[in-house]
Amino acid sequence: MEKSSLKGRDLLSIADLNAAELAAILATAAQLKAETQQRKPHHLLEGQTLALVFEKPSLRTRLSFDVGMFQLGGRAMYLAPQEVGLGKRETISDVARVISRMCEVIVARVFNHESLVEMAKYSSVPVVNGLSDFEHPCQALADLLTIQEKFGHIAGLKMAYIGDGNNMAHSLMLGAALSGMDITVISPPGYEPNEEVVSQARKLAGGKAAIKAVHNLESGVEGADIIYTDVWASMGQEEEAAERRQIFKPYQVNERLVGLAKPGALVLHCLPAHRGDEITEEVLESPQSWVFQQAENRLHAQKGLLVHLLG
Ligand code: CP
Ligand code: NVA
Repeated sequence: MEKSSLKGRDLLSIADLNAAELAAILATAAQLKAETQQRKPHHLLEGQTLALVFEKPSLRTRLSFDVGMFQLGGRAMYLAPQEVGLGKRETISDVARVISRMCEVIVARVFNHESLVEMAKYSSVPVVNGLSDFEHPCQALADLLTIQEKFGHIAGLKMAYIGDGNNMAHSLMLGAALSGMDITVISPPGYEPNEEVVSQARKLAGGKAAIKAVHNLESGVEGADIIYTDVWASMGQEEEAAERRQIFKPYQVNERLVGLAKPGALVLHCLPAHRGDEITEEVLESPQSWVFQQAENRLHAQKGLLVHLLG
């Protein structure tokens, strides 16, 4: 691969990428996935080390970056919240400068998105957002890869995202805009996506994709090729869970709702899922649901990303 325009860059938002860069990551990811399935080794990051700095729990993000670095010939180090004490035991600026001296890339999962901005400011190596309260760009990369696999293309499709206008909704809106995919975020009043993100996504789409934030379920889901949902209470909002369960109840992804979308519409969920809340067991386990392929694609999409940032 020739030198990528992404070499040395941070990925705090999916909108840090332009449309061509996003497509290039997905193309590399697809190629690496094919090689992995053929058990062809691709030691493109021999001797490189990735630091995982996490303030919140994780299965997929931690596992996929760890396995991904191993498959690329490098290694990953997991630094748990109680070990690093980001901003508590040590300032974020000091943590970033120390890690930069020993590792080639940092993946951080933080409560406050500003912590990532601070880390990127002081790090001399790329900083990747492994989930913040504002965005989850690595998940959106895997989701777009999954959509591309299912439909053979992304532009021209329509996604209905149902639920909280949260970090996932933000990254999907921006990722859809960059990919020419229509997206309608359908949330209860008071839980809409951030207005600035909605207008940023509209600007990025440049008239090539419709970006909507609505409350009405039926009209929002109509004609959707993809139905996406996420938890009603994100990590850090546990104390609001009971109240949110009442408010979000009508927004459950169930068979009736899926029936309003295009026949055979793809069902996605970033996981972890709460069966019986945001999605029913029947829908999650139905053939229309590709949630485990989607989870696996975290591995392939992030390998594509790492090769571009470090290769
Ligand atoms: N989807 C996702 O990011 O999963 P984890 O929280 O388990 O990493
Ligand atoms: N919105 C969820 C995503 C989990 C992968 C959260 O932030 O907890």
